[in-house]
Amino acid sequence: MDERHGTLPMQEIATVELPTRRATTRLGRWLAQGVIAGDLVVLTGGLGAGKTFLTRSVARAMGVGPEIRVTSPTFTLVHEYETVPRLVHADLYRVSDGSEVDQLLLREMRAHGAVLFVEWGEPYLRELGGDALLVKLEMSGPSRAATLVATGPRARQWSSRALPNKLMVRADDKQD
Ligand SMILES: Nc1ncnc2c1ncn2[C@@H]1O[C@H](COP(=O)(O)OP(=O)(O)OP(=O)(O)O)[C@@H](O)[C@H]1O
Ligand SMILES: [Mg+2]
Repeated sequence: MDERHGTLPMQEIATVELPTRRATTRLGRWLAQGVIAGDLVVLTGGLGAGKTFLTRSVARAMGVGPEIRVTSPTFTLVHEYETVPRLVHADLYRVSDGSEVDQLLLREMRAHGAVLFVEWGEPYLRELGGDALLVKLEMSGPSRAATLVATGPRARQWSSRALPNKLMVRADDKQD
């Protein structure tokens, strides 16, 4: 399915159910195994939806040890981890316009091979360099679901990777 989002083509990949934190951790591991240098993953969903939790799972799966805290970059805006490729975790909740995003040099980090995980980044896809895998987290009670959407050619390649067996893919999902 192709939709227009501004001028960026959007393609829905799948929706997975995340009834437990363990399921979200599995999704994080899958993301960690699939990222390549320069990737952009943008996390959307309301307060407490699990954006930081998912990114922490990615960081752990990329080898960030338990002695290193993976916390929300709400105030610092950007946290970096010495993984290969380098993981950059940003939270743009407190940013008010695109020029502030430009000043964070996230696009440049990406160009130098970092993998970006950006909370509240959807309004700034252009400043982040586009071609994002959007992970849209929805909350319903204690449960969560994640819809994966690609906004460009690199992100579309995620659709060719099988999701982990133990993650339930929503049946009514459009997989075209
Ligand atoms: N299935 C689940 N997946 C992820 N988190 C879950 C799940 N069930 C419960 N939680 C809890 O929900 C909370 C998610 O908080 P988190 O800080 O990750 O949210 P966030 O989306 O980053 O919020 P914010 O917009 O404030 O940054 C955590 O306390 C986590 O333990
Ligand atoms: Mg957060």
